[in-house]
Amino acid sequence: MKRIVQPLAICALCLGLAWGLGFDSAQAADFAGSSQCKVCHNKKDEGAQYDTWKSKEHAKAFETLKSPEAIKIGEEKGLEKPPAESPECIKCHVTAFDAASNAVPDKIKLEDGVSCEECHGPGSEHIVLGKKVMFQKDTSIDMAATQAEITKETCTKCHNEESPTWDPERYTLEDGTKVGFDFELAKKKIDHSNPKKASGG
Ligand code: HEC
Ligand code: HEC
Ligand code: HEC
Ligand code: HEC
Repeated sequence: MKRIVQPLAICALCLGLAWGLGFDSAQAADFAGSSQCKVCHNKKDEGAQYDTWKSKEHAKAFETLKSPEAIKIGEEKGLEKPPAESPECIKCHVTAFDAASNAVPDKIKLEDGVSCEECHGPGSEHIVLGKKVMFQKDTSIDMAATQAEITKETCTKCHNEESPTWDPERYTLEDGTKVGFDFELAKKKIDHSNPKKASGG
């Protein structure tokens, strides 16, 4: 955390204990920042995950808080500070915001908005293993196991009625029903899958 030093030290101790008790080492992973992911996940023929993310809403989520629309919402809500400085807004517009400390992890940039590790989980451990796969050709590593499982709740943590711009009819299901959020349709909108994998190759 950018602001708090003491709890981090305690946490390192907890993780040490957890390690001793035999928990998965992936739990000890730290946030690395999306620029790190770009190094391995931006190949055009594999889905260009970084550029795809960068071109869509999540990457702009923090910037959005500086827009005239956001400032108007902030005024209507009577916020003391502009939205880009208010935890009330920042908490859903950036990655891994921690309300207790009012901060984000060190390597997370506010400007990156809602970035890779918000959904996939802290990536430091994954990166260490990814290097072994790519540079040492280690085939024994299960890379999927280093990533957080993404469920509907991963998204509805932010995509819910607490959002000032929540539209209960934003998504139209196949049968015509309108809902504020639909996991499957929303996933399609942010799709950055690897076409090589999808085709089984
Ligand atoms: C040193 C290279 C490297 C870096 C850096 C890296 N990865 Fe990976 N990643 C891999 C490899 C290798 C795989 C396994 C092959 C594949 O699925 O493309 C993988 C797979 C994945 C997968 C798919 C896992 C699955 O379900 O099969 C996700 C999601 C992922 N990485 C996210 C990230 C994120 C987020 C970051 C940044 C925090 C990141 N990666 C950084 C090498 C890397
Ligand atoms: C940390 C909060 C957060 C999480 C978690 C999150 N989002 Fe978002 N999402 C946002 C914000 C904020 C925006 C608006 C960004 C903007 O327009 O500047 C947004 C916008 C979107 C949009 C474009 C608007 C729309 O609804 O059509 C889609 C699609 C979307 N998110 C899908 C998802 C999916 C799918 C997940 C889960 C896998 C997810 N989001 C997880 C905060 C989040
Ligand atoms: C509970 C999470 C959450 C909170 C809190 C939140 N937002 Fe958002 N914001 C979202 C999501 C999700 C979206 C994507 C559209 C939607 O579903 O509302 C979004 C989109 C937006 C947009 C873009 C609207 C558009 O469709 O282009 C603006 C502007 C915005 N938020 C401003 C704010 C401001 C200002 C605050 C603080 C007063 C705030 N948000 C607090 C989750 C949140
Ligand atoms: C809003 C949530 C969200 C964000 C932000 C996000 N992803 Fe993903 N990512 C997903 C979802 C959902 C999938 C589909 C697989 C799944 O459901 O686990 C996915 C799949 C992937 C895969 C696997 C592709 C495949 O077909 O094997 C990789 C690699 C990946 N993401 C990397 C990234 C990188 C790198 C970033 C940042 C530049 C990023 N993701 C940002 C939600 C997200």
